[in-house]
Amino acid sequence: MYKKFFLFFASTITVFLATAQNKNLAPTPPMGFMTWNYFALDIDESKVKSLADAMVESGLRDAGYNFIFIDDGWQGGRDNKNNMIPDPKKFPSGMKALVDYVHSKGMKIGIYSDAAPLTCGGYTASLGFEEQDAKTFANWGFDYLKYDYCGAPTDWQTAIKRYQTMSEALKKSGRDITFGICEWGDREPWLWAKKSGGQLWRTTADIRDKWESLNPPKTAYELHSVGAGIMNIVNINAELNKFAGPNGWNDPDMLVVGLYGKKGPSGDLGGVGCTDVEYQSQMSLWCLMASPLMITCDVRNMNDATKRILLNKDVIAIDQDILGVQAERKIKNDTWQMFVKPLSNGDVALGILNVSDKTQTANINLAELGIAGKTKSFDVWGKTTAKISATIKVSVAAHETKIYRLMK
Ligand code: GLA
Repeated sequence: MYKKFFLFFASTITVFLATAQNKNLAPTPPMGFMTWNYFALDIDESKVKSLADAMVESGLRDAGYNFIFIDDGWQGGRDNKNNMIPDPKKFPSGMKALVDYVHSKGMKIGIYSDAAPLTCGGYTASLGFEEQDAKTFANWGFDYLKYDYCGAPTDWQTAIKRYQTMSEALKKSGRDITFGICEWGDREPWLWAKKSGGQLWRTTADIRDKWESLNPPKTAYELHSVGAGIMNIVNINAELNKFAGPNGWNDPDMLVVGLYGKKGPSGDLGGVGCTDVEYQSQMSLWCLMASPLMITCDVRNMNDATKRILLNKDVIAIDQDILGVQAERKIKNDTWQMFVKPLSNGDVALGILNVSDKTQTANINLAELGIAGKTKSFDVWGKTTAKISATIKVSVAAHETKIYRLMK
């Protein structure tokens, strides 16, 4: 009797601790490099190592991009005990050695699976093996799991259940593993993903390396077939601001900054590449929207413009601000979109995007945007400080986003 009671008590405590333990895994949006948009399924251990090296050498790790996220294409099936194994040709030293290498560089590392028998790329996935796979990932030392939804039924209930099952398995795995939910916003995960154990959830179809789809689809779901450009994604994700916060972020998918239309999945469905102004806008908008920042260009070969965009510490600080508020989009018309993001020290970030095709000048009345009591502005791209009054006049190039940090 006592023994039974003790066992019940002990297991309740274990579940409680496991749940409590996973509470603060993403106080600010995760940042790092994700293999998908440039390398697709063509990944291996020497590439991952060289990417980790490049993250350190380029200063990206020290700027906050402390994760390497391995996406689809690493799997080699299961062994005779049904343990997942990596592709032995791509990862001959095994996952533990690779994870140790990335950790030795002062970085964290993520892995990928799917809530069905096979992943989007057709590789072995985790349905029915959740606990076993979570333990395997934990034993290898992974810190993050991106959990995809190809090959799974379309209804909400099943999705919620399958994500919940994997999240419970991760909690029991003995390691803190951040959980990224990837069902592309099709079942409004902002309503349930946090409760199901996710620290972030994709809100849209896969991003393509383009500014905007020429035929904007009527529903978010249709974006899968026409390809989501930066603006198609902004127009969905910006409306979801009230659902985001510490340990539960809207994920508008990876940064295409620096890809320049190079081959890879982001080039599919008309991804022709963007200009540096547009890449700078993506970075600005993602940071205003408190988004996970997942770089996908080849960080071993970045040009100066790409480095300047990705390494702008003042922009990153807006994304990573510990208040964890996603900007509210206050204005949306044929010329402008304006975003306001409150920051932890009382400053306010004001984002001004010109969506038209020519340079425009805005006369912004701060009170109309709900901003009061600010006397100074810092242009986070131009790096200039100015005194401000009730209005700000600013010239913005086509597709450019300016961000001002407004201070007392
Ligand atoms: C889906 C996801 C992508 C990527 C691929 C991998 O399309 O949305 O981000 O992970 O699968 O196959």
